Amino acid sequence: MAKPKISFICQSCGAVYTRWQGKCDACGEWNTIVQEQVDAGGGVGGGPMMARGRRKGRASELLSLAGESDEAPRVVSGIDELDRATGGGFVRGSALLIGGDPGIGKSTLLMQATAALARRGHSVIYVSGEEAVAQVRLRAQRLKVADTGVKLMAETNVEDILATLNEARRPDLVVIDSIQTLWSDGVESAPGTVTQVRTGAQALIRYAKASGAAVILVGHVTKEGQIAGPRVVEHMVDAVLYFEGEGGHHYRILRTVKNRFGPTDEIGVFEMGDSGLREVANPSELFLGERNASSPGAAVFAGMEGTRPVLVEIQALVAPSALGTPRRAVVGWDQPRLAMVLAVLEAHCGVRLGSHDVYLNVAGGFRISEPAADLAVAAALVSSLSGSALPPDCVYFGEVSLSGAVRAVAHAGQRLKEAEKLGFRQAVLPALGPDVGRPLDGRAFEVETLPHLVARVA
Ligand code: TYD
Ligand code: MG
Repeated sequence: MAKPKISFICQSCGAVYTRWQGKCDACGEWNTIVQEQVDAGGGVGGGPMMARGRRKGRASELLSLAGESDEAPRVVSGIDELDRATGGGFVRGSALLIGGDPGIGKSTLLMQATAALARRGHSVIYVSGEEAVAQVRLRAQRLKVADTGVKLMAETNVEDILATLNEARRPDLVVIDSIQTLWSDGVESAPGTVTQVRTGAQALIRYAKASGAAVILVGHVTKEGQIAGPRVVEHMVDAVLYFEGEGGHHYRILRTVKNRFGPTDEIGVFEMGDSGLREVANPSELFLGERNASSPGAAVFAGMEGTRPVLVEIQALVAPSALGTPRRAVVGWDQPRLAMVLAVLEAHCGVRLGSHDVYLNVAGGFRISEPAADLAVAAALVSSLSGSALPPDCVYFGEVSLSGAVRAVAHAGQRLKEAEKLGFRQAVLPALGPDVGRPLDGRAFEVETLPHLVARVA
């Protein structure tokens, strides 16, 4: 038996060091490096240390690229918001990671998903390492899904889980809640450390491929990085979804960040209520719900999340600063992107904001990643500075370049259609292509440069 090896592993990114250090050079996090004992046989995450039981390789069959291949077979839950985020259902024989803050609703979502699948005749196993059977049953009762035939197992040992799964007759889907509770016999480190998480995840991914079951791994993200974040698992699995929400808001967003079998950037929107998560079929209505259209500094952005248009309000507050260095605070958008829009407003439009504090907020706690929001942000900033409200029935979208030009963005037609559906009658946007026609009865105003927008708004 080889001697156990001591390694120092960053719990945030998984980088391995031979000695302890305060800061991880790979990801820049502090105090995340923890001593772990690695079984030389297993290696760190099955690394190159295959010292034990060396065997001769077996020749494998070489195949051509052409040949029979079916669409990825899927397990469809019937919960539209979930199926959209997974790209049309969970894929058999693949592993999917659902990450999110503790308490955001991952277990609730998966309990509802497994129940929906069981109702459609699929055999589903829910492995709870985090909660006792009684707790899971209580949740199932609260969600009114206790009678659906989901099989439950409260277990944290990887070998025991695999033994049980192999005995169960070919489940269609297995949920592991959560990977941080897993521990494997061969690994000395505590549950939740990188080595344990990686070893457990690897074994379950192998099980998924071999058995053809869809395996869902739940992972908590902690800001402190003390517990191995699911980031080390992200590279190993086929799809990664994040379940997000803002404190104080009831809605939750399931966001696809990686998907080998479907599009990324998709979102599913849910609302957390007394009896679980409810689907939100029209998120724009939710995000525009508490809108105060008559106040200066608010602009409605017609955005896209994956294949779906989402309208959100962007709120800006520009106020004279008492400080030498004025404040710039952003919630829900990119700080460098705001700095760029401010610089373009200064340089090309004569809008002086150098002695003003600037606060920018995306209403409802939504997070935007699209550069297409530039134009709406600029409109909100100018409106706040001038103190005059923007037309309440107008939407904005378009990307701004450093030269001040307004660039076209994808899916203009879809954005406009959504705006029209929600009662908006005008839009300010980049030059439309010839195939879009004459949307909003000609009240879609094309702006070629940011100065054009400022002239319209101010
Ligand atoms: P949970 O699914 O346990 O979160 P996670 O698995 O991500 O840690 O959900 C936790 C929160 O959701 C908890 O604060 C209670 C709330 N909740 C509801 O508001 N309604 C419900 O029907 C359920 C089941 C939970
Ligand atoms: Mg949970």
